Amino acid sequence: MYKDWIKLENDCKLCLKCRLAEKRNNVVFGVGNTKSKVLFVGEGPGENEDLQGEPFVGRAGRLLDEMLNEFGFSRKKNIYIANIVKCRPPNNRDPLPEEQEKCIFWLREQFKLICPSIIVCLGRIAAAKMIKPDIKITKEHGTFFKKRNLIFMPTLHPAAILRNPNMKNEAISDFSKLKSYYEKIL
Ligand code: URA
Repeated sequence: MYKDWIKLENDCKLCLKCRLAEKRNNVVFGVGNTKSKVLFVGEGPGENEDLQGEPFVGRAGRLLDEMLNEFGFSRKKNIYIANIVKCRPPNNRDPLPEEQEKCIFWLREQFKLICPSIIVCLGRIAAAKMIKPDIKITKEHGTFFKKRNLIFMPTLHPAAILRNPNMKNEAISDFSKLKSYYEKIL
């Protein structure tokens, strides 16, 4: 287990565990306050994230920031955001199970150093990997799952909300539940 965040980040940025390393511009390690109580986990970097080296910086990211800010959360202040895979899958395809399995090593190490109280899974891929493989995100988003003494909440992926703006109210309701939980654990 890593004891030092900088060493973890440096090693992750040199990772060659899977073939996604071959075409990356940047390893997208994560962003935010490493002492946060809330860890957000997405699926993997897209084009903008690969170019800038930061998660959720495209259109979906702007929507995510807008919803976070509405509830007093911010990547600069009180949350941490990372992805299941740290390198961009070609043409934004879903990360393959073996890519997820290799890369989640880094997320586990991040998790152990951050020690969050709740993990919010953004979208089906992250929720399936972290909560249960057969999760039905459209039905089960906003539910709190307890697993090994940890709380997980799946929510809708901001890119899915951009495709279907009707879903935004449901995501807002999930964020509102998160905020109530957060206020209790502060
Ligand atoms: N979608 C994700 O799941 N993660 C990102 O970092 C960007 C878009």
